[in-house]
Amino acid sequence: MGRLDDRVAIVTGSGRGIGRATALRLALDGAAVVINDLDSDVAEKVAAEIREAGGQALAGVGNCAHRREADHVAHMALKEFGKIDILVNNAGTTRDKIFHQMDEESLDVVMNANLRTTFNMTQAVIGHMRDTSKAEIAVNGEPNYHRKIVNTSSVVAFTGNPGQWNYTAAKGAVMSVTKTLARELGPFRINVNAVAPGFVETRLTAAHGSESHAESGLGIPEQARQAVKANIGLGYLGHPEDIANVTAFLVSADADYVSGVTIPVTGGQYGGMG
Ligand SMILES: NC(=O)c1ccc[n+]([C@@H]2O[C@H](COP(=O)([O-])OP(=O)(O)OC[C@H]3O[C@@H](n4cnc5c(N)ncnc54)[C@H](O)[C@@H]3O)[C@@H](O)[C@H]2O)c1
Repeated sequence: MGRLDDRVAIVTGSGRGIGRATALRLALDGAAVVINDLDSDVAEKVAAEIREAGGQALAGVGNCAHRREADHVAHMALKEFGKIDILVNNAGTTRDKIFHQMDEESLDVVMNANLRTTFNMTQAVIGHMRDTSKAEIAVNGEPNYHRKIVNTSSVVAFTGNPGQWNYTAAKGAVMSVTKTLARELGPFRINVNAVAPGFVETRLTAAHGSESHAESGLGIPEQARQAVKANIGLGYLGHPEDIANVTAFLVSADADYVSGVTIPVTGGQYGGMG
């Protein structure tokens, strides 16, 4: 028996990286998972991987920076699985530039990918989550179980980071809105928390000059990677599964009395990139 048996989850940006690891982990714990991503090929692949392992999954392709597409993903989840218990707002990206060269397009891209996706997807599911909780309270005096939202901030929301005015603005906001929503939704036993990953091996942190960097244009200079590593207490970069493990805890009943917090998952990092 899994700790998320009979739960339905949506994970945004789960075609790759941390989102993919999170979707696989939630499925392993028993949840039916909607794999949302901009890119259909990777979303379909993760969904197929879960189904082949005996789990339940559906690709919900769409750009959740657009409200209509976020609504469509929620609609697909309800149509296929009948309910939504868990939302992991993981989608995000970077567009690093030193502040005096930061342009409005880089600001908009990063705010949309990290913050607007979180706004849109949460709005798309919240009516259903609240109404279901309220109906259960009307019958039983309390909801049948806690529903869960996990947002994705970053260690840089705590530390700041040169070249990431846009990203730190978005990730700092994610941390703040997590507290606001935890207070609004507490009465419905909907817990809202965030994870703040440190430096995790994905395409966002791939070394400039690597194959991943050539393909996506994302990544950071090797020198910066090494500088960050020197600041990680445990002495190595994180893996997507390290973040997925903490999210899996937060969405489980084991964390029912945890709400409104952002958990740093950094290997003891005390500064630098995220
Ligand atoms: N990798 C790190 O070191 C690190 C550190 C701190 C925070 N984070 C955060 O973790 C999250 C996942 O990052 P990652 O490193 O796995 O990145 P990634 O680029 O490997 O994966 C992100 C996925 O999100 C998808 N995506 C982006 N915008 C989207 C949108 N508007 N709608 C739907 N899907 C969208 C992408 O297509 C991609 O598949 C992000 O929010 C990121 O900011 C990462």
